[in-house]
Amino acid sequence: MNAHNSPSTSIDFEDLRRQAREVARRAYNPYSNVQVGAALLGANGQVFTGCNVENASYGATLCAERSALAHAVSSGEQSFLALAIWASPQSLLMPCGICRQMLFEFSPNLEIVIDSKGAGPKRVTLAELLPSGVKGSDLV
Ligand code: THU
Repeated sequence: MNAHNSPSTSIDFEDLRRQAREVARRAYNPYSNVQVGAALLGANGQVFTGCNVENASYGATLCAERSALAHAVSSGEQSFLALAIWASPQSLLMPCGICRQMLFEFSPNLEIVIDSKGAGPKRVTLAELLPSGVKGSDLV
């Protein structure tokens, strides 16, 4: 059964977690020294990874989740089944509010697994993290 037709139970979360951990090594993080990696599983079965990219103007920093999302959308995928996040701190680093809203735009029912160096895995859904996100249909 391929990822496109599968229930979440058949998603290879182990592989997704590994890809998130590996891409975290590419983090550009001279200000926080925090490494974050994200691996986003598209509905077509392809995985898109991203890491955090910091900036001297701190607010311009791009989180790993949005980095993975931009990678996916610019590769032609707009529907997602699951997301793995790995972060270098000891405690779990939950996705920030901006990333939750960005992911909600495409897949409000995304399955998420979160790991850090010293904690996890923790399974959550985007619906739990962002129960009332802004929808395009609310803008009319
Ligand atoms: N960070 C992420 O990449 N994802 C999140 O959801 C939370 C924070 C990054 C941004 C910054 O480079 C570092 O973690 C510390 O906040």
